[in-house]
Amino acid sequence: TRCQVAVIGAGPAGMLLGHLLRQHGIDVVIVERRDRAYVEGRVRAGILEQGTVALMARLGLDRRLRREGLVHSGTKLSVDGAVFRIDFAALTGGATVTVYGQQEVMKDLFDAAETRGLDVVFDAEDLRLEAVDTDRPRVSYRRHGIDHVVDCDVVVGCDGFHGVSRAAIPEGVLKTFERVYAFGWLGILADVPPADHELIYCSHERGFALASMRSETRSRYYLQCAADERVEDWPDERFWDELCGRLGPEVAARVTRGPSFEKTVAPLRSFVAEPMRYGRLFLAGDAAHIVPPTGAKGMNLAVSDVTMLGEALIDLFEEGSTAGIDGYSARALARVWKAERFSWWFTGLMHRFPGTDPFARQMQVAELDYIRSSRAAQTTLAENYVGLPLSPGP
Ligand code: FAD
Ligand code: DHB
Repeated sequence: TRCQVAVIGAGPAGMLLGHLLRQHGIDVVIVERRDRAYVEGRVRAGILEQGTVALMARLGLDRRLRREGLVHSGTKLSVDGAVFRIDFAALTGGATVTVYGQQEVMKDLFDAAETRGLDVVFDAEDLRLEAVDTDRPRVSYRRHGIDHVVDCDVVVGCDGFHGVSRAAIPEGVLKTFERVYAFGWLGILADVPPADHELIYCSHERGFALASMRSETRSRYYLQCAADERVEDWPDERFWDELCGRLGPEVAARVTRGPSFEKTVAPLRSFVAEPMRYGRLFLAGDAAHIVPPTGAKGMNLAVSDVTMLGEALIDLFEEGSTAGIDGYSARALARVWKAERFSWWFTGLMHRFPGTDPFARQMQVAELDYIRSSRAAQTTLAENYVGLPLSPGP
């Protein structure tokens, strides 16, 4: 097969980039290791920044999102049970975020791929990248026992943190930065109404908790837990009791308990790989960077990467201009690092760090009290949470 752009990975980054390029008549093949049901079934992000909603709109894929997404103009913070609100809209000149699960985004992207003829190859095993430092890179893989080769002009690695694309950049070129946190998040989904109409980020002596949702009838709750916590040790009753303890009596009174149908532990990590380009290989999304989930930046960063890379590739194929692709890595990383900083800061502010002393807790409580009382501090939180603007292009 021959195409202009081979995209590795059909997560949010790969599928959005695929649709964007296809909208401009660029010939794309997306190659994914798993099947559609697997990718669509993964319970992950829940909060879309305005830029993410805007990209879905630009692709003409926002009908269900407009109908079913819940627009939030603020969020709540709870400190040992005392709750206050951050009013995003008032602090940022009207910006909001939208609750719409990554699973719903994926369903919309896959449905549209079928109707628009966007080529997605599932079940591709043993994928390899070749000659990415030439103008004729190649992607090879095996599918149902048959070997395939895709010749292309550009390869885009959207294959997540555990993918193969990043490893195609030579060690002497790639620089990585990493922080692994000594705790994880235990998350559940339950078909019960959420405790509040907004999210509640909760800092508590016993650890962080988050009250989120997927709809008016589906709740998503998280508890900070040990990195090696076993889900089997958390029957629903224990989860609800611990959650209510951290949220405090006022919010706990509004928690509806019910059977969970999803329960998993996610590790927390900060990670950046630079540069995000090597020859004709470009990285986007989790393939290049990971943020801890506090602040909901992961998927949104993948979207801002592909928005910038999409512009650059459209310039390349429509105008023959390499200015965009040459500037992509620096441009994307400028925004990535700010989101890394925000996610790291918000994680540090809200979690209990094993082995720290009472002074460290007082510093957190004092900073939260400062945020509660300072419009300037709230503005800083709000403008980062709703999403910083894209860095200027070349
Ligand atoms: P991915 O979604 O990881 O997609 C990569 C795709 O590439 C996958 O479909 C994978 O199967 C495929 N692939 C991998 N290797 C290969 C290969 N060798 N060949 C072909 N295909 C390959 N973000 C939030 O904002 N909020 C959250 O609550 C949240 N929770 C998360 C929970 C978990 C357990 C994880 C792992 C992530 C979570 N995130 C969350 C982060 C968010 O989901 C990611 O940032 C987002 O999915 C990134 O999209 P992506 O397309 O870059 O990568
Ligand atoms: C969700 C996840 C987050 O990491 C976050 O900051 C907010 C919401 C969620 O899954 O609903």
